[in-house]
Amino acid sequence: MPRVLFIRIVLPAVMGLLIAACGSAAPQGPLAQGREVYANICSACHGSGGQGGIGPPFAGVLDTFSSCEDHQRWVTLGSDGWKAEVGITYGDPNKEVTGGMPSHEGRLTPTEIAAVAAFERSQYGGLDPATALQQCGFDPDSNG
Ligand code: HEC
Repeated sequence: MPRVLFIRIVLPAVMGLLIAACGSAAPQGPLAQGREVYANICSACHGSGGQGGIGPPFAGVLDTFSSCEDHQRWVTLGSDGWKAEVGITYGDPNKEVTGGMPSHEGRLTPTEIAAVAAFERSQYGGLDPATALQQCGFDPDSNG
């Protein structure tokens, strides 16, 4: 093969493939995935550090949802969906649904919703990461 062809065409193609392969193979555990979802979507209303804004802060999120299943259901349904399917209050303290939390059904996969719930519970709720992962249905060792 002519040297010039190798350098101009074959080499860049191989490098491109290598870079693509590395990108997709980079390990990303549920908590890293949750952090990304949080930054992209939730932080706009709940604050970049979970301190609250349009939406409530997350310091007390474990008091609101002792169960991660309910936490995920809330994020899936949002205020309107919750009101229609579950009732006019949410969480263990029966907080009144005042509105404004969007549904994330179809926008996020169930795994992404579980990941962001685990992230909120550990990062802002203060739960240790392994317990948060386990509560939300992940392998407690799949940290990352
Ligand atoms: C458009 C603004 C907005 C976005 C985006 C948003 N939220 Fe909310 N969130 C709210 C509001 C407002 C409430 C209170 C809702 C109510 O009382 O009906 C809330 C409540 C919550 C609660 C209950 C907290 C507590 O302790 O009472 C959780 C958990 C939550 N949101 C998680 C999330 C997650 C996870 C995301 C991202 C996937 C997200 N939210 C995105 C506005 C938002």
